[in-house]
Amino acid sequence: MYTLPKLEYSYDSLEPFIDAATMEIHYTKHHQAYIDKLNAALESHPKLQDLPIEDLLRKLNTLPKEIQTQVKNHGGGHANHSFWWLNLKKNTKFDGEISKEIKKKFGSYDKFKEEFIKTALSVFGSGWGWLILNKDNNLEIIKTPNQDSPLMEGNVPLLGVDMWEHSFYLKHGPNKTAYMEDFFKVINWENVNKNFEKAK
Ligand SMILES: [Fe+2]
Repeated sequence: MYTLPKLEYSYDSLEPFIDAATMEIHYTKHHQAYIDKLNAALESHPKLQDLPIEDLLRKLNTLPKEIQTQVKNHGGGHANHSFWWLNLKKNTKFDGEISKEIKKKFGSYDKFKEEFIKTALSVFGSGWGWLILNKDNNLEIIKTPNQDSPLMEGNVPLLGVDMWEHSFYLKHGPNKTAYMEDFFKVINWENVNKNFEKAK
């Protein structure tokens, strides 16, 4: 059975950029719902419930046809949200190998930020913006619809932003640009760097 990963900080840790109420609802209601629905979908496939969620998504296309959509939506939701919580921390430094690679690829931190925000804001409806290490070992900024995970296409997510309204509407209303500015203040660069080192 999949379970909610422990949140290693309090709901108000990211104030004033991401508010405590959003964090609590997002974690206890939205993330939990993805997990419950994923477990329900896998009830008749207990062996699959033992796989790390990332492995389950990587092999999505080889799973029994009748559960693929549920695993894609709810397994994707579980993986993306597990990733999201680790993604966030105040006052980390844009540093390490990843900062060098980002500057090499995008020119500067500001250019990277601009392109990442542009891509995230171009998500129509609900989805995610990502910095990934793609199959050719290059950094790339992409978006995915719904709860699709970069893992499903064989890419490795390094940084992601949740563009579903439940992630920002309480505090930012429809102002996604303000949400993106606040998101950039709570990127956990230590974790992005760790993801990059592991992906290489
Ligand atoms: Fe979310």
